[in-house]
Amino acid sequence: MRMSVVPLRSDKTESQAVAPARQRAVGIATSVAERIAKLADKTATKTATSTAVAASKSGIARAVEIGRDNVLPEIERTGAKLKERTRPDRLRNDYRDYLLMLHDRVLDPPVESLFFKATKAPVALAGLTIRGNNREHGHDYRPSPCSLFEWTVAAINYDLSRLTFVDYGAGKGRVLLLASQHPFQAIGGIEFAEELHDDATMNLAQFPRSRMKCRNVECVLDDAAALGPPEGESVHYFFNPFSREVFAEVLHNLVVSYRKRPRRLYLILIEPVATDLIDNSGVFQRLELPLIERIKVRLFSPYEVVLYRSLA
Ligand SMILES: C[S@@+](CC[C@H](N)C(=O)[O-])C[C@H]1O[C@@H](n2cnc3c(N)ncnc32)[C@H](O)[C@@H]1O
Repeated sequence: MRMSVVPLRSDKTESQAVAPARQRAVGIATSVAERIAKLADKTATKTATSTAVAASKSGIARAVEIGRDNVLPEIERTGAKLKERTRPDRLRNDYRDYLLMLHDRVLDPPVESLFFKATKAPVALAGLTIRGNNREHGHDYRPSPCSLFEWTVAAINYDLSRLTFVDYGAGKGRVLLLASQHPFQAIGGIEFAEELHDDATMNLAQFPRSRMKCRNVECVLDDAAALGPPEGESVHYFFNPFSREVFAEVLHNLVVSYRKRPRRLYLILIEPVATDLIDNSGVFQRLELPLIERIKVRLFSPYEVVLYRSLA
């Protein structure tokens, strides 16, 4: 077959013949360009996406890091605090503080206003002048809540005029004067800190006589372990004044005296330190408070209250 290099003859002009081919070429070029542009677009989107993904990955990693370093420890700290605050003994303490505030601000003030020397503030024994050798066994001065005292006296189901009332560690005389508003036969206190005893003496001297149902009231400056109990029937009041060791001596004196002359003795213990010694003395039996007082103490006493009576 013969091949010719001479272009085939055509009736169209050259430019007329080239135009469609050029158009086709332009068309192809355009479509290729469009595809390349789309591809480029896709590539750009991909790049942007992967950049964003990488950024968010590192952001998340950073957030986790910050969380681990700051948020988690804070959550742990808060959890620990919550756990600590809701521990039963902690809740009991918080409730006790609340009750102390209730007594101090609401229930005590009407009585406190009657004292010449204020009795409500606690006083540390350090720095006070102490009689005897039991300084390190003594507990700091704190007043009995007035209402609590009244609930304990109301729990004594006996003719009060037959009883002598004794406060061991009488402080500034608050309890002696609260007791004086009941018809006890006599009232005595013993306090080993001179400065507190001085205030108690002032308070006894200045207390309105019209309020006293018992005016036979005195306070002795001495160590409670040196005191022998009264001969007759009596109530012995302890608001956690001293250690178990001193309490054992005082109890021993009571037991010896009782064995010589069996008689009606009551013990009132607020925040007791050694009830096992009393239980094992063979002289006292534990009494349940009457229902009303039991409810009051259970709901509103900041301190444990225990009542005993001698077997006679
Ligand atoms: C918790 S205060 C009670 C004060 C008061 N009886 C009252 O209930 O309001 C304890 C008191 O016991 C006194 N005290 C501590 N050891 C004593 C001791 N061996 N002899 C006498 N008093 C003592 C302290 O000086 C303090 O005044």
